Amino acid sequence: METTNSMSRRHFLAATGAIAGSALLSSLPVDAHALTNQSGNGVNKKKMRVAMIGTGHRGTGMWGKDLVRDYSGYLEFVGLCDINPGRVETAKGMIGATCPTYTDFEKMMRETKPDVLIVTTVDATHDDFIVRGMELGADIITEKPMTTDEKKVQRILDAEKRTGKKCRVTFNYRYSPHRAKMWELLQAGEIGELTSIDFHWYLDTSHGADYFRRWHRLVEKSGSLWLHKASHHFDLLNWWIDSDPESVYALGQLNFYGKNGPYRAENCRNCPHTGECNFYYDLAKNQRLWNLYAENEKYDGYFRDGCVFKNDINIFDKMAATIKYVNGVEVAYSLTAYSPYEGYRISFNGTKGKIDAWIQESKPVNDANYDEIVLFKNFGKRQYFQIPFGEGHGGGDKLLKDQIFLPNVNDPLKQCASTRDGAFACLIGIAARNSIASGNVVKIADLTTLKPGAVKQYERVV
Ligand SMILES: NC(=O)c1ccc[n+]([C@@H]2O[C@H](COP(=O)([O-])OP(=O)(O)OC[C@H]3O[C@@H](n4cnc5c(N)ncnc54)[C@H](O)[C@@H]3O)[C@@H](O)[C@H]2O)c1
Repeated sequence: METTNSMSRRHFLAATGAIAGSALLSSLPVDAHALTNQSGNGVNKKKMRVAMIGTGHRGTGMWGKDLVRDYSGYLEFVGLCDINPGRVETAKGMIGATCPTYTDFEKMMRETKPDVLIVTTVDATHDDFIVRGMELGADIITEKPMTTDEKKVQRILDAEKRTGKKCRVTFNYRYSPHRAKMWELLQAGEIGELTSIDFHWYLDTSHGADYFRRWHRLVEKSGSLWLHKASHHFDLLNWWIDSDPESVYALGQLNFYGKNGPYRAENCRNCPHTGECNFYYDLAKNQRLWNLYAENEKYDGYFRDGCVFKNDINIFDKMAATIKYVNGVEVAYSLTAYSPYEGYRISFNGTKGKIDAWIQESKPVNDANYDEIVLFKNFGKRQYFQIPFGEGHGGGDKLLKDQIFLPNVNDPLKQCASTRDGAFACLIGIAARNSIASGNVVKIADLTTLKPGAVKQYERVV
């Protein structure tokens, strides 16, 4: 790696993408392929039989159309299910699948007997499908957050043990090349012993505001942004720190969206304030979303263009937490949901130096096509690492799917996430919510039977 302490001598390092994709992979032994029926030499013996519950945006895109387009040699859809009969039919066309569609989950599982069930429903319903899916004989691939409260976390852990089936949580943020680069620098001991992290995430008034338009606005459906959004960030922390969280103290308020707005309506299409509202969202401009949601709202009243100032919004839009890890690392975390840009600032503080990054996802600095990480050494030089952007969460989505569906892809950066990982990411958010309610520090060990350890346990989910 190149070293410089001068901004003018920065070098372009296409570092982590390449490492994740090739160098480190080839240096390690090959695992039996995860969650599939494929042979070790990449020749297709039998395709993975996949069913999906929840055919909305994520289900039809990342886990639908993209799978049919890129991985048809390795898998086939055998069933699609959604509570909305119109949306599941629309989704089938969007995905390009030829399998039957269902509105009855049990019926789909009994008739199609999938090897793998993909869970992409509303967050608070994940546990029902994960548990029942395993009971009915499938391994599970679930979107984050794994679930939304501590009882549901326990249910999932118990069901996995009881059924012998496996559940993988798709923490795609781990696979973004610049975050993998941070992991590598930490693992390599570049800043000595990691002692604390300052981690501040900003959601913008476009993508961030979207959470306040839909079901995510209700704690009972999303668990709040502590679960829906921050579980991504907590999982990154757990992975980077390589230890389990011990305790959480948190604060949170709703002081921008919801009841704080100057006016409101049910949704933008029926609103008299569209001319003056900065949050006016014209769903008709997006044909795909119109077809998926507006054309099917007659079945369930799900408005994709819901008002961000509705009085029923009961999640926080400003949050902060102090998290202590078993290995002694301390984290100062915050999440703000009404920022001009989307992204984050992070500082990893160690005994021999510091790693910093300011990542702007929605409006990159100077329209740069890379993410930059700076490594500072105490009494020494700086190094700049510039990691090229890729499509879909910085290129992470593709790397995650390759690892799941292609044969012979190893896991050198320990990015594969188990239910234990899914649980600890959720438990930090749940502890934060409980801490705000009680005003007390919440111990993670008090929430479930899962006991946090000084060193994170790794499991390659197969
Ligand atoms: N990892 C990521 O970057 C990422 C990005 C987006 C979404 N997600 C996750 O994907 C999941 C889906 O999000 P989305 O944006 O597609 O939401 P969405 O609202 O577009 O889709 C959810 C679908 O689930 C269906 N559904 C809800 N309850 C159901 C039930 N009880 N039975 C059957 N179907 C039911 C809805 O009708 C809808 O079609 C969420 O868990 C979300 O957190 C992850």
